[in-house]
Amino acid sequence: MPTVITPLSVCYFLSLILAYYLGKNFPDPNCFKASIDNRPIRLKKIEELTDAEIKKVRAQQAPCHYGNCTAREYKAIEWPDVDDQHPIIWVGGMPRSGTTLMRAILDVHPDVRCGEETRVIPRVMMVRKSMKSATHMKESAFSQNALSSEGEEAMNEGVKRFILEVIEKHGPISRRLCNKDPFALKFMTELTSWYPNSKFIYMLRDARSVAHSIISRKVTITGYDLTNYTDVIHRWDLAHQQMWQQCQDLGPKICMPVHYEHLILEKEQVLRKIAEFLGLKWFDGLIHHEEHIGSDISLSSLERSTDQVVKATYTTALSSWEGIIPEEDLKNVERVAPLMKIFGYKPEVHVGSYEHFISKTSQMLHLEFLRNEIRNAYKPAKPAKKLPPKAVMKPTLAQFVANSEKKNSSRKAISTEL
Ligand SMILES: *[C@@H]1O[C@H](CO)[C@@H](O)[C@H](O)[C@H]1NC(C)=O
Ligand SMILES: *[C@@H]1O[C@H](CO)[C@@H](O)[C@H](O)[C@H]1NC(C)=O
Ligand SMILES: *[C@@H]1O[C@H](CO)[C@@H](O)[C@H](O)[C@H]1NC(C)=O
Repeated sequence: MPTVITPLSVCYFLSLILAYYLGKNFPDPNCFKASIDNRPIRLKKIEELTDAEIKKVRAQQAPCHYGNCTAREYKAIEWPDVDDQHPIIWVGGMPRSGTTLMRAILDVHPDVRCGEETRVIPRVMMVRKSMKSATHMKESAFSQNALSSEGEEAMNEGVKRFILEVIEKHGPISRRLCNKDPFALKFMTELTSWYPNSKFIYMLRDARSVAHSIISRKVTITGYDLTNYTDVIHRWDLAHQQMWQQCQDLGPKICMPVHYEHLILEKEQVLRKIAEFLGLKWFDGLIHHEEHIGSDISLSSLERSTDQVVKATYTTALSSWEGIIPEEDLKNVERVAPLMKIFGYKPEVHVGSYEHFISKTSQMLHLEFLRNEIRNAYKPAKPAKKLPPKAVMKPTLAQFVANSEKKNSSRKAISTEL
């Protein structure tokens, strides 16, 4: 009788013998798990790949990093399977709030790849939203205000797959994929319904620092008046209202707000908390991320554990807006940005004051501050009310003309922020 001896057959045979002696009636199912997984990479889930397999695919990707690889090289890449159950990490918030620092730190973790901003994801989400609510094409053709449910489903499916592809393919693969597009967090609700294992790192930073940074670096964001601090600070609040509401609804298991100031002042504690939240194994390299990624993070030289330098950090880097934002704009902050207080900032004090984020100073336990904040500000998620489906009535021609006249004046172009 010809025999094929493989690790699997040996394991199976041994467990049969064991089962016989122990009086169990079935071989150990762990045999199959422990046996060598010979499936091709393309059939494996990205999170199941071994280090060697990750390395192999990364090597295949390498010639394409400049976008100039040949079709043959591209075809040879063995893309693993990424499905919508993948625990995607999303880093976002307002631009200039430490989202880049956060993703640079996460990129140091051997299991994570965030990479650069794709820029396309918030745009796609925004276009989808405007198509959903008032499709320009369909509206004029059929006088319908929204896509039919099949149309919407097809569009959602398309957008959903497209985003996964973009996240997977815009950088070297890794077991945990991550995306950093600050405004993607305006769509946390949709993203969670499509990718239910998503985790969001929601960066918060003093509106005055954000406004100073946006204006001094001339970061153009559609609709922002870069000559007017009050306007930028107000828009900080509007953007956060949208994101904060969703963060509260999703709850602390899915969305974790992180104060940029706290991350700077107590890097290790905050990062340990983040690793726990994301389900990542702790990796010491995170604390010294600057050693791994070169010198593109100017704050790296300010990280010291002594209180003296912590103080220097916040006066030089965290309070760089002091003396730059005019007094009349500072007076408006409390009024135009009510979320400042909810997030624990002190808009009434016109100097940077962030000591209360340090757990030692505030006599609070590790991250107790944020927990308190969450306890006070988080409302329990309301179950979504199901609206009864609206009856869709075909309008008469007269109504159609009347409708389009009404809409003529109010029709807006698709707004693309960012
Ligand atoms: C692609 O671009 C990189 C960087 O510009 C260059 O080093 C490499 O040789 C290019 N590869 C091909 C196939 O043109
Ligand atoms: C600045 O923006 C605020 C809020 O949008 C507005 O009320 C104010 O008139 C603006 N000031 C100037 C000088 O444009
Ligand atoms: C819609 O607006 C355009 C240009 O603004 C105008 O020429 C056209 O007559 C308007 N249509 C209706 C039905 O009011």
